Amino acid sequence: MYRSRIMGIGMYVPSRVVTNHDLSTKMETSHEWIVERTGIEERRWVSEGETGTDLATKASREAIERAGLQPQDIDLIIYATLSPDFMFPGTAVFVQRALGLKEIPCLDIRQQCTGFIYGLSIADAYIRSGVFKTILMIGSEVHSTGLDVSTAGRDITVLFGDGAGAVVIGRATDDKHMILSTHIHADGSEAEILWTEYPASARNPRISAEAMAERKHYPSMNGKKVFKHAVTRMPAAIMEGMMANGIKSIDEIDMVIPHQANLRINQMVGKMIGMPEHKMHNNIMKYGNTTAASIPICAHEAVQLGKIKPGDLVCLVAFGAGLTWGSAFVRW
Ligand code: COA
Repeated sequence: MYRSRIMGIGMYVPSRVVTNHDLSTKMETSHEWIVERTGIEERRWVSEGETGTDLATKASREAIERAGLQPQDIDLIIYATLSPDFMFPGTAVFVQRALGLKEIPCLDIRQQCTGFIYGLSIADAYIRSGVFKTILMIGSEVHSTGLDVSTAGRDITVLFGDGAGAVVIGRATDDKHMILSTHIHADGSEAEILWTEYPASARNPRISAEAMAERKHYPSMNGKKVFKHAVTRMPAAIMEGMMANGIKSIDEIDMVIPHQANLRINQMVGKMIGMPEHKMHNNIMKYGNTTAASIPICAHEAVQLGKIKPGDLVCLVAFGAGLTWGSAFVRW
């Protein structure tokens, strides 16, 4: 049986910076409110015509280059998103086309903020079984075209940003650089506490003037419930991974890269597991919550800053809509 490793990582965010002050000109909010509750100072939003495919393709090219490979070496694309470019087909085929690839399989997955961890687990299983050798795993989101920028949507709109991250996953050649474990979970009993109801095939018609007047085509969230679940599930997922890998002390972990939903959530998780602040990297301040893209965007920055070095033991952990959650332990 083969084992897998992360060979290269890339990221791309749109150039358009949207500050908290910019938002306060469109809705009743303030820089102070947003920073105090979430840590977010600014985020990137796409410009007219810029798509999730565009962001993903740029992130992918960097990941492939850093892996020392060519696009033609990729034999599967996995694309995690909650904001596909179109209802169908999935967005991975558009990235395939943009990279000049032909006929390789393309798989879109929909696990929201846990999308990247789910994608890693799928890629890891495919590599272990020998079915595929080199997989491009992307998390990419364009939230901004679907957010309510009026005061009615302020609780959610201030949180989200656009961006993409990508990794190339290939066969491990030694035990110093490998994906050690992935653990993924879901609980649909409260699926509606964070969702977008319209447009939907479960509704007939899929979208209506009435639904739009009630702003049901925008995401809605019970923020307090989501917060409580996140600070319970993320520590549990970290502990689960530690136990599976025989990691007896938190000190053995070199870096935790948590999903970037809210700085306060991550600070609380850090305290609960006894992780010193310098061993948990966050960059939500600059990018907001980029959902499936947040972990690779954050890990990319940690690598660039030298906070993650080859061979380090890195824990990736996420929680999101669904509800879904999970962790991955990686020898980088
Ligand atoms: N600016 C100013 N005021 C805002 C606001 C904004 N952007 N958003 C909400 N408010 C108001 C509310 O209307 C409410 O006013 P009221 O007391 O008059 O009704 C008040 O601020 C407090 O709102 P509340 O929802 O109680 O705030 P909170 O302390 O729970 O913080 C979140 C809100 C969204 C920051 C917080 O619940 C959170 O981060 N939850 C998790 C979200 C998340 O991580 N989602 C993604 C998961 S992957």
